[in-house]
Amino acid sequence: MFGKLYTKHVCPHIINFAMQNKVISKQREKIIPSARGRVLEIGIGSGLNFSLYDKSKINDVFAVEPDNILLEKAKKRALENNIDLNIEKISAEMLPYENEFFDTVISTYTMCSISDLNSALKEIRRVLKKDGIFLFSEHGKSPDDNIYKWQKRLNPIQGALFGGCQLDVDIQTTLNISKFEFHNIESMYVPGPKFLSYHYWGTALKK
Ligand SMILES: C[S@@+](CC[C@H](N)C(=O)[O-])C[C@H]1O[C@@H](n2cnc3c(N)ncnc32)[C@H](O)[C@@H]1O
Repeated sequence: MFGKLYTKHVCPHIINFAMQNKVISKQREKIIPSARGRVLEIGIGSGLNFSLYDKSKINDVFAVEPDNILLEKAKKRALENNIDLNIEKISAEMLPYENEFFDTVISTYTMCSISDLNSALKEIRRVLKKDGIFLFSEHGKSPDDNIYKWQKRLNPIQGALFGGCQLDVDIQTTLNISKFEFHNIESMYVPGPKFLSYHYWGTALKK
């Protein structure tokens, strides 16, 4: 009962607050200005990437977000940034768009929260144009065995507090298995607790 109330009414506000962290904002700056053409953000949250778009390169912005509170915040932030946002209250595992519809798909800190990530990546691949780009910045699996063990131990707590977020997603391997290759990918610890701060970011392309 308390868990459900927390997830529905408190967690979205905590996510909105936590995602405005300076380190995360720096990560966003590394990838978001590359977005171009018709853009889709998956799990857009409260729309914290909008201010970093290079609007001269962008035609349309679409987004999916399953959480009501975050969706409303994203709509408000879109207005503040003069963005005409087409947003759907759905999950990324089944996208309502035709094949090869987008020039850019963006995932920032969403892959850790998607319950069926393989299905979502299959959908992202389907809706991305042949020469489209998948921009991502995510925290994930640490290369250090000891930290990785802690990530697995802490997963249940992290998941309960932050909307199902898992600490140990191997972003690079998962993208590879899902038939993406990398135009560029970087990974390292950014400032913060080690179990949470191993980051992967870059641009993936359809193989
Ligand atoms: C940590 S937040 C990141 C939000 C945003 N992308 C950002 O960078 O601030 C994770 C987001 O994933 C969303 N989410 C959870 N499950 C999802 C799913 N199956 N499909 C799409 N989004 C999902 C959550 O509602 C939340 O907005």
